[in-house]
Amino acid sequence: MRRLVWAALLFLAGCTSSPPPPSAASSHPLTERIWLVAEQRFVTPDELARRMAKARFVLLGEAHDNPRHHEIEAWAVTALATTNRRPALVAEMIAADQAPGLELFFKEPRRSADGLDLFLKWNESGWPAWSLYQPVFEAAARFGWPIRAGNLDRTRLPAMHRDGWAALPSEERQRLALPEALDDADMQRLAPAIIAGHCGHLPERLLSPFVEIQYARDAALARALADGAADADGAVLIAGSEHVRLTSAAPAQLTRLGIPGAVFSLAMAEVKPGQDDPQAYAADFDSPTLPFTAVWFTAGAPRGDPCAALKGKFK
Ligand code: HEM
Repeated sequence: MRRLVWAALLFLAGCTSSPPPPSAASSHPLTERIWLVAEQRFVTPDELARRMAKARFVLLGEAHDNPRHHEIEAWAVTALATTNRRPALVAEMIAADQAPGLELFFKEPRRSADGLDLFLKWNESGWPAWSLYQPVFEAAARFGWPIRAGNLDRTRLPAMHRDGWAALPSEERQRLALPEALDDADMQRLAPAIIAGHCGHLPERLLSPFVEIQYARDAALARALADGAADADGAVLIAGSEHVRLTSAAPAQLTRLGIPGAVFSLAMAEVKPGQDDPQAYAADFDSPTLPFTAVWFTAGAPRGDPCAALKGKFK
């Protein structure tokens, strides 16, 4: 009977094992190809879905403003649901202080995320339009997956910009098992991406607090994944691709916090003209190899110069 209900749900969802075709055309040979990093070969969406379904934790890394990345995430949730997985969906875009709104929304039994944005005050959150994120939340809600806040409490951020994680209450530092101080190895591991991510415009005084925020945020995502998995069938994360790097970020925090379970980290990466070798993209992550289980290459999103927007921002 349960299987019949699933089959009916998937039929209603219009589910197939293929993701929807991309709306933007691209002549780049890597576009819409999926690279399995350890095996150094391309796989089909079907094989990707089968591999992901075996992991307790599936981490999906996006460029927040790329619509194709959101389509792929919604497809991944639906594809996992077809394997009868019912994990929790943890979102970097939902902060701990929004958890009450989330709880209130799901107090009613629901099979749709319609209206969730109002409960989360999404429009005031600074994240890209709800319309981009709605499909992935819609897919999770349709299959009855619990949805959980992943990010740090936003009300703590202004003080953290000054004092790093010293600004967090001691119970929160304990919950995330944050050490007394960030050691040099972690600083060196995390700082380059933060310096490059802000186009070199970040003043020196902000670097250490930002690195601590990044570390604490990854720890919060890992904690939310563990909590989500504890009362569901594993957990799926949607986050910026920096947070799903295997060698640092949320996967490293899962290990540090002693949370068991296989991790599958899928990053969505935008193709670059003339860069046709998947392994060449490792350099973008300042890493000898791509720091993910798999990479799904997509066309870039149309956007202005993000560096220009950051100039003078941190004065
Ligand atoms: C072009 C890409 C990026 C832009 C436009 C950008 C922009 C910003 C801005 C405007 C803030 C300050 C927020 C505020 O004052 O309220 C900020 C904070 C921060 N960013 Fe970025 N950022 C980018 C990439 C990155 C990357 C790649 C990382 C990590 C590797 C990162 C990590 C952080 C952290 C940890 C903070 C401080 C905590 C917070 O306020 O959330 N950013 N970013």
